[in-house]
Amino acid sequence: MASDIEKILRPVDNPAPDFPAKFMTLSSGEKLVIRQITREEIPMLLPHVEPLLHVDRDYYDIVAARVYAELLGYYRHRVQDEYVLIAQINGELVAIVNGRRLNPEIGMSYHTLSLRRGLRVGAHAFAAKMEYHFDIMNQKEVLIVAESPNGFRRWMIEYQLEKRFNIAHELGGVPSWSLTRQLYEKAKGSLIVGARPVPDELLKKAMDEILPPKDPPRPPKDLFASKRSKCDATMPAGSLSSHCCCEGGKNNA
Ligand SMILES: CC(C)(COP(=O)(O)OP(=O)(O)OC[C@H]1O[C@@H](n2cnc3c(N)ncnc32)[C@H](O)[C@@H]1OP(=O)(O)O)[C@@H](O)C(=O)NCCC(=O)NCCS
Repeated sequence: MASDIEKILRPVDNPAPDFPAKFMTLSSGEKLVIRQITREEIPMLLPHVEPLLHVDRDYYDIVAARVYAELLGYYRHRVQDEYVLIAQINGELVAIVNGRRLNPEIGMSYHTLSLRRGLRVGAHAFAAKMEYHFDIMNQKEVLIVAESPNGFRRWMIEYQLEKRFNIAHELGGVPSWSLTRQLYEKAKGSLIVGARPVPDELLKKAMDEILPPKDPPRPPKDLFASKRSKCDATMPAGSLSSHCCCEGGKNNA
């Protein structure tokens, strides 16, 4: 009986080609590998997303809550035609992106979550998912929204997305923006970079294990905004207080 109901509840994914892994060198000199993960690997991501539910800075909380649900939706077969890509440095998990196919021609971008700040790993991971929609799945446009000002700068401004305000996006029903094939082609080589195939050793390191992020955004130790601002890592150089309220005075993002 239960398995009969499960057959009704579980959507049958439409076939789609896999995203071929790619790599690039970051400004730090480190090599970033971006690859698709399987359902079986989802439980390895969840413990690194959950702590971000408590980071209100830069809207990590709402994005993490939604990403957590989307990852579970994929793992437990409760979403249609979703995919998940991850970005790794030496095996370390540094970004997660996901989305789904709305229909054969239109892609629905879900989320981008950067777990290591300051290296544009989120931007590269987002670019990889656009590459997946256009070059690999041959779609015509991708519907996109941003929950944070950083997201807005990275997607709407950098790609000069077109408004599709007549279409409610799946993320909260807010007005959509669109990356068209024309805009995508324009971004290739500047915003969208990377090479294939990934050298064997690099790929093996990424496939072997998903290592925890070393310096992820952390919740502030002190919830009072006035005290938190004293150790805001994004304040002008030299203005950080010596009485930081966050652990090690380092990363309270
Ligand atoms: C939006 C996002 C994916 C972009 O990732 P990214 O390309 O790796 O960029 P970063 O997050 O490192 O940096 C974004 C901005 O934050 C600031 N920043 C850089 N290093 C930082 C640090 N260590 N701590 C805090 N802020 C930092 C900079 O202003 C930077 O912008 P710039 O590089 O254009 O000057 C990422 O900020 C993120 O995951 N945000 C929370 C979730 C979210 O909003 N996702 C997008 C939903 S639409």
